[in-house]
Amino acid sequence: MGKLEGQVAVITGASGGIGAATARLFAREGARLALLDVAPVPEELQNLGTAHVVDVTDAGAVESATAKVVQDHGRLDILVSAAGILDEVPFLEMSPERFDRTIAVDLRGVFLAARFAAPHMVAAGGGRIINIASQLGIKGGTNLAHYVAAKAGVIGLTKALALELAPKGVLVNAIAPGPIVTPLIDGLSEEWKRSKSAELPLGRFGRPEEVAPTALLLAGSPDGDIYVGQTLGPNSGDVMP
Ligand SMILES: NC(=O)c1ccc[n+]([C@@H]2O[C@H](COP(=O)([O-])OP(=O)(O)OC[C@H]3O[C@@H](n4cnc5c(N)ncnc54)[C@H](O)[C@@H]3O)[C@@H](O)[C@H]2O)c1
Repeated sequence: MGKLEGQVAVITGASGGIGAATARLFAREGARLALLDVAPVPEELQNLGTAHVVDVTDAGAVESATAKVVQDHGRLDILVSAAGILDEVPFLEMSPERFDRTIAVDLRGVFLAARFAAPHMVAAGGGRIINIASQLGIKGGTNLAHYVAAKAGVIGLTKALALELAPKGVLVNAIAPGPIVTPLIDGLSEEWKRSKSAELPLGRFGRPEEVAPTALLLAGSPDGDIYVGQTLGPNSGDVMP
């Protein structure tokens, strides 16, 4: 028996590194998946469930995709919000439009996914919401004021939702990864990657497959039953809150 046997999970950002690794692990544990991404879901993932091209900043699209998932699968037990963008720019050059764009995807997108998934979970008497934040939301970071603000926002949003929804059976938690080798950080300089790796107690970045088990812990029962409003840190030791 898989740990998520018979459960239905929505994963946003499913075409990306962390989202896809989570999808593969959840599928191995018996979950049926709805894979949401603005980019097409790779073919190898499509047979793990239904694929939906959705921009998480578009409230109408998120609402109708969520309704379709419930219609197709008959239930919705788990949401993993992994869609995100990272756009490096010094604060003194950051336009309001660029700030708004990152907040729209990385914070509002997380709100929208939870906002439309949670009512189905509450109606069913339980569910799990797992928001992918970032350790930068805890420690800060240069040239990423919008990203840092969004990720700190995700951690705060997670706590607020956890307080409101836990009494209704829906457990909400966040994961704040450290640097993970995915397309998100491809654009960062090799020099930064070398010096950042050297500074980590573990001496290396993580892999998406090393983040997915934290999502499984939070999604599963009884393993995740006592986590409420927490931010777990698979981060090579970079941040120790
Ligand atoms: N890679 C890291 O070092 C790292 C560290 C901490 C946190 N994170 C967070 O983990 C999450 C997953 O990132 P990743 O590293 O797998 O990156 P990734 O770029 O591989 O995946 C992100 C996915 O989100 C999708 N996406 C972007 N904008 C979208 C939108 N508007 N609507 C729907 N989908 C959209 C992309 O198409 C992509 O498939 C992100 O929230 C990211 O901020 C990543």
